Amino acid sequence: MRSAEEQRQRLRGAFDDDRDADTFLLRLERYGPDLQESLRAVYGGAAQELYQRLEDALLLGYHERPAELKRLDEARLLRPDWLQQETMLGYVAYTERFAGTLQGVAEHLPYLKELGVSYLHLMPLLQPRAGENDGGYAVQDYRAVRSDLGSMQDLSDLARELRGQGLSLCLDLVLNHVAKEHDWARRAQAGEAKYQNYFYMYPDREQPDAYEQTLPEVFPEFAPGNFTWDEPSGRWVWTTFNTYQWDLNWANPDVFLEFVEILLYLANRGVEIFRLDAIAFIWKRPGTNCQNQPEVHLLTRALRAALRVAAPAVAFKAEAIVAPADLISYLGRGAHHGKLSDLAYHNSLMVQLWSSLASRDVRLFEAALLNFPPKPTTATWGVYVRCHDDVGWAISDEDAERAGSSGPGHRQFLSDFYSGEFPESFACGLVFQYNPATGDRRISGSAASLAGLEHALAVGDDVAAELALERLLMLHAVTLAFGGVPLLYMGDELATLNDYSFEGDPEHASDNRWVHRPAMNWARAAERFDLDTVPGRMFAGLKALILARRNLPLLHAATESEVYRSPNPAVLFLARRHPTGTLLALYNFSEKPQRFPTSALSPHFTAVTDAITGRAITLAAESLELAPYGRLWLVEDVRA
Ligand code: GLC
Repeated sequence: MRSAEEQRQRLRGAFDDDRDADTFLLRLERYGPDLQESLRAVYGGAAQELYQRLEDALLLGYHERPAELKRLDEARLLRPDWLQQETMLGYVAYTERFAGTLQGVAEHLPYLKELGVSYLHLMPLLQPRAGENDGGYAVQDYRAVRSDLGSMQDLSDLARELRGQGLSLCLDLVLNHVAKEHDWARRAQAGEAKYQNYFYMYPDREQPDAYEQTLPEVFPEFAPGNFTWDEPSGRWVWTTFNTYQWDLNWANPDVFLEFVEILLYLANRGVEIFRLDAIAFIWKRPGTNCQNQPEVHLLTRALRAALRVAAPAVAFKAEAIVAPADLISYLGRGAHHGKLSDLAYHNSLMVQLWSSLASRDVRLFEAALLNFPPKPTTATWGVYVRCHDDVGWAISDEDAERAGSSGPGHRQFLSDFYSGEFPESFACGLVFQYNPATGDRRISGSAASLAGLEHALAVGDDVAAELALERLLMLHAVTLAFGGVPLLYMGDELATLNDYSFEGDPEHASDNRWVHRPAMNWARAAERFDLDTVPGRMFAGLKALILARRNLPLLHAATESEVYRSPNPAVLFLARRHPTGTLLALYNFSEKPQRFPTSALSPHFTAVTDAITGRAITLAAESLELAPYGRLWLVEDVRA
């Protein structure tokens, strides 16, 4: 083992340029202890050797980092809150469904710029297994791009082009599992002990059965159970998701090192944000549900510290669809404060939006937000109305009770409502993964179809269609002014409906999440300039909200939105108190006009404007009226 000083000299010797050496060594001085501490906590005695191997990997990663990305590192270090700016806007798309290929994406950049997008999440595009691959979440090769989309060079070229135009590229990093066709899995199958130790493999059912006692099922319909028999190796393999997705053994330090190398490889090709897919699952502990274990956070902290040394422009987004009390840990609580993911999906906000829309009542929404632990000021929510996954009714029994209803009853109501089974429901959705053991019925469907547009257009009801658009705009207004990076899901800006053609595609037919993953309809996009069309009205309405957001520095995400008890149960009342000003936002979750007492607003303002429309609002009357699904972003009128 080398002494610390010997190691320092050795590292310095690896540089021709003193300034470069200083940069690297200073960062190592800053983040090395963090990295070591986290590794020790996870790997104990094996940590020191791993750390030395890591230093070499980081050195290599740093040396290979292109000059333009090193410049970006410096720029980001000067603006550590870059993701928190009110100008941030995310867009989430499938490369092939948006533009055919990576080069095609570059050709559609003007469209994204027109919307105001500054962050582009391209759905899984690394080489997946052939055939069914869970929408690309079964990766066979992390260093290759799906050949039908382009090459690694095309990915770097696109990242550069995006960067030049002010957009950051986000990619998925699938780290809980690999495709069973990945080289590691193949070698494990062939009996290589080194690689069998990359996975959880058991000769008999003893341990799998013991784990199953406390494990939930992610895909109870198409992949029941959490273990799959693998004939070639004669082993049971841990497969939380689909049978062809093999869970990785992060207790093995080699797996950690492999992922640092993969991260550096992709970061050096211009990926700026990594979406840490299914991060909650990466550590297994007997007797638990094997989610949210403390090691998950230690590992994230170690990965982040490593990246801070060699590529500090990189940010992490945690995809942890877990209960609020668990979720907040992904942004760093206690000793991890400020040291974990930079972003995390605010799943609860999304669920509450749809819940209140169905019930026309915001009391549960209030209870859930009031009960939400505070986030670190340096971390940021990813806020969204819809995404590529199903909507699971993550509503806690306690919150439901606090709001005067019952958890199981309300969850059942929501599934009935959004599957269209509930009388007079406006929604068209599909039940995804019914689990008779828990009663869970998750829902697939596009935002527009869930919000009533599909039904309204099918019966030719123009008034209902108009209301559906108002619903959608109201939901987007909440996310755009909540604070965080709003993530628009491809096609939602045009109010795209469900697409049932997946049923005829053998690779997709069994997974109805494809109903809300249609190809971009560019003919529909071309209608966006025509305000007499549905896409035109949606696009224009959304664009107005996006523009209003850009002009509100008080939306900087360091500050959180607070929920105020609303005097009207159909109206959500949110506040943002930021040093640059206060925003009080009102959202009507019902199709009826609602009145809201001005006495709840007047203590905060002398004169008030709606930041969406720029209209002055009088507080002289006793109450103000919100139109059906009306939204107001009230700020102090500086002109007054
Ligand atoms: C994430 C993805 C989901 C996928 C799963 C397994 O939850 O969003 O689409 O099925 O991970 O990788």
